[in-house]
Amino acid sequence: MGTKKNLSDIAWRDFKALPLTEKGAYFQGSPAHTLIAQQFSREKIEELCELATKIKRMNKRRDGANFLKSLLSDKRAMLYFAQPSSRTYLSHNAACQILGLDTMDVRDSKTSSEIKGESPEDTIRTFSSYVDMIIMRHPVGGFAERVAWMMAHTGREISVLNAGSGADQHPTQALLDIYTLQRSFEKIGGIDGKHVAFVGDLLRGRTVRSLAWMLSLYKDMTLYFIAPESLQISQDILDLLDKAGTKYVVTQDFASVMPIADAIYMTRIQDEWDVEGEGSTTEACDYHIGAEHMDTIKDTTVILHPLPRRQEISTEIDNDSRAVYWRQMRNGMWIRAALILTTFGRQEEVNQHYAEYKPEA
Ligand code: NCD
Repeated sequence: MGTKKNLSDIAWRDFKALPLTEKGAYFQGSPAHTLIAQQFSREKIEELCELATKIKRMNKRRDGANFLKSLLSDKRAMLYFAQPSSRTYLSHNAACQILGLDTMDVRDSKTSSEIKGESPEDTIRTFSSYVDMIIMRHPVGGFAERVAWMMAHTGREISVLNAGSGADQHPTQALLDIYTLQRSFEKIGGIDGKHVAFVGDLLRGRTVRSLAWMLSLYKDMTLYFIAPESLQISQDILDLLDKAGTKYVVTQDFASVMPIADAIYMTRIQDEWDVEGEGSTTEACDYHIGAEHMDTIKDTTVILHPLPRRQEISTEIDNDSRAVYWRQMRNGMWIRAALILTTFGRQEEVNQHYAEYKPEA
């Protein structure tokens, strides 16, 4: 990750041109930002996972929950979601509540002064005056980075947390996916050495793009990218995997991967990115997992999905213990609480008081 660097010291053009793996050095320190998956080291991810579990356990006790609520009671966050969201919005909001951080939100740009012609930059600068952190989702790839850079050039830089940008990055989803995989594989040697299959619209699925890279931090992984040719994972991600020395297979053949995968990560068609007049991508991708496949996959295999789902997973497998997508969704709340607490540098307070508040074994 390198040593800490300041966003205020670099021109936007130069920052934009940096390789993803070099950008992270600008997001550390205070205020810290979470903008891209590539800013995380394995060590940092593991710290966050451990903290998430402590928060989750402390929160089971009333005195523990009250203690957690005191940790960020002096802070406020803005939830700015310029794209639809259910889980990411609610779990960030819930994570803030767990830590006692008050929130405000704009979920529709039409209700802010953007409709009067204000630029998104001015709108965000306005929000930032009232809060200590912006949690944002935006249709424009790279815009969260632009906001963090812009804030660094004002007298009042605050933390920016990217809750999904364009078809490009979704770093907090990747963290919750890793947390889910780590917990799922706890008794079978952890994430190292596992075979992970990604299925669906891999071209425009930002969760896959972020998670695939994060998995390259683990040892002896094999990643399978299963998609129709027109929606296959793009070369920039494969280049990053090559650089990291991570093995991968690009294929259209889901049936042959099913019996060997340790994790199957299903995704929906991201047809909101279809271009009018260029036809629909929906028919191009009909990968599916259902009751008829449950004998084919291993007993220890887990099925994940960032949700929302469409036809790609039958509801009839929802109660199979290998279908972990509902747990995965709840894990988002705990890992985001850990991330927000760490962003404000208060994580040590949990570590110091954990023994007092941990639930009886
Ligand atoms: C994903 C997203 O927004 O990228 N949803 C989520 O955050 N859980 C996946 C999707 O919309 O398909």
